[in-house]
Amino acid sequence: MERKPVVVGNWKMELSHKASTEAALSIKKLLKNITLKCEVVVCPSYPALAAVKEVFGKTTVAVGAQNVHWEERGAWTGQVSVSQIMPFAAWSIVGHSEQRALTGETEDEVTLKASLLLQHGIAPIVCIGESREEREAEQTVTKVTQQIQHFLSKMTRTSLSKVVIAYEPIWAIGSGQMPEPSDVAEIMLLIRKQVAGRFGNEAADKLRILYGGSVTPTNVAPYMAEPGVDGVLVGGASTHPMQFVEIIKTVQGKAA
Ligand code: PGA
Repeated sequence: MERKPVVVGNWKMELSHKASTEAALSIKKLLKNITLKCEVVVCPSYPALAAVKEVFGKTTVAVGAQNVHWEERGAWTGQVSVSQIMPFAAWSIVGHSEQRALTGETEDEVTLKASLLLQHGIAPIVCIGESREEREAEQTVTKVTQQIQHFLSKMTRTSLSKVVIAYEPIWAIGSGQMPEPSDVAEIMLLIRKQVAGRFGNEAADKLRILYGGSVTPTNVAPYMAEPGVDGVLVGGASTHPMQFVEIIKTVQGKAA
């Protein structure tokens, strides 16, 4: 089963409105003569969604949100709903560890967000992964299994086919520390086995699973070389257009 690789750039709160537009323009320019064989998703902050969407226009680069609320509407000061991102975003990250840490977001909330996005035709990028303490206590497999099982329990085979999972060990985010590529491949296999157990081999074969955490142009290749790694979720390096495009070029190498 050939899975189309995905590269997601998560700009977090790093870029001003102006810098977001400029970064999008640079990425567009750098990709101009490249036929994309992978999906590329850029996730700016909410206020820049419209401007970045405008820049990418009819190109194949998609725009995503970094988060969304699990309710359709209501008295939720400071929150953003699915219908508010819908004109701009074809994707949305949910369950990012920074969001989980800030708000105490639960697995239930992450799953509710993903379900709501799917109802509105937006593809969720669902982040999971263990903390440093869990890693050191050899709880990685247990944690990832719990997270994926909880998520799968609320999905159908059809809805899962639109989801992308991002395995991001929390300790690897922004730290320059990374698990071995072979460790990442093992986690991908673990996730796929859970999916196969619930929805069958075909669903597991189709699911795209990304690695995230300290990805740069210089370290991405060995991760992409592992079976089962279908792309990357990039934070810091994605705010530098040249680095982001270098990463895209490496990931492209894996595309059919
Ligand atoms: P990083 O962030 O690439 O800066 O480690 C990844 C992420 O948080 O998605």
